[in-house]
Amino acid sequence: MQRRKFLKNSSAASAGIFTTPLFASCNEEAKKTRAIETLQAIRPIAICTWDFHNATTKAWEVLENGGASLDAVEQGVMVEEADVNNQTVGVGGRPDRDGNVTLDACIMDKDSNCGAVLCMQNIAHPISVARKVMEETPHVMLAGKGAEQFAYEQGFKKTNLLTEQSRLEWGEWKKTSKYETVINIENHDTIGMLAIDKNGDIAGACTTSGMGYKYAGRVGDSPIIGAGLFVDNEIGGATATGVGEEVVRTVGSFLIVELMRQGKSPQEACEEGVRRIMEKNKDRDDFQIGFIAINKKGETGGYCVHPGFTYREYSTKGHENKEVTSYLKS
Ligand code: GLY
Repeated sequence: MQRRKFLKNSSAASAGIFTTPLFASCNEEAKKTRAIETLQAIRPIAICTWDFHNATTKAWEVLENGGASLDAVEQGVMVEEADVNNQTVGVGGRPDRDGNVTLDACIMDKDSNCGAVLCMQNIAHPISVARKVMEETPHVMLAGKGAEQFAYEQGFKKTNLLTEQSRLEWGEWKKTSKYETVINIENHDTIGMLAIDKNGDIAGACTTSGMGYKYAGRVGDSPIIGAGLFVDNEIGGATATGVGEEVVRTVGSFLIVELMRQGKSPQEACEEGVRRIMEKNKDRDDFQIGFIAINKKGETGGYCVHPGFTYREYSTKGHENKEVTSYLKS
């Protein structure tokens, strides 16, 4: 025992003597570089998955007036949650196979605080309930009836989420009850948003009604911190859209932020994130995934499995719908 203890202590001492100062100086250098990059960064800036230009317009309004990135991403994605014509997010979202609209959302701030709601019914703005979970409870996630109950306690109103259009389409679907994802055809157009405010702080939000006609109780990647969304204020943020099951398997957004930490650009990191997913799916390509990412400098990138995915960017350089290259070319 004593010998083992001695060896353990001596190797720890060696590690301390020979490696700690080296790592410490590398870390210090990296921190200094990041601090300079932050000062020179493009900001404010907001980006979101797909061409949800009304959402980025709202986020920009908040940022330009000096608002925090957390408020910008919340208010930005709320625009889509309220849009009854968007059948993949919030009110008007497609229901599950039993005809119930269930919503997933999460939010993450500059201090790595986060909150999420999963499979929640009857509440129009799940992103705001997620924020309340983050700010008002000791928890990160609330699911189902518990999330809904918490929302009422916080003053949210009961809302019918199933529009006539979505109800009619569900009725048609029930005739065959065939489950298939249709690439880029509004079956999985989650909105994920990332923003940097005038202070250089990053926040992110992600919200969805999930896959149309999913099994009751199904939860995808969107409310899972690390999968559908991840933010590290020192490095950057990433968020995902598409078939959530595939994003969860690789903890996609966390992976992309870690790749940026290792020195990859947002574009390179998104490309590697999609490659990892495709390596696990050698026999299939019948699904779409899109990632977007932003780093501390305000550089952005995006990548997807199939052509067709775009992302919106709003900064002092303008308001642009950005074409994204894809892993598969047709
Ligand atoms: N990415 C949304 C979902 O799979 O639910």
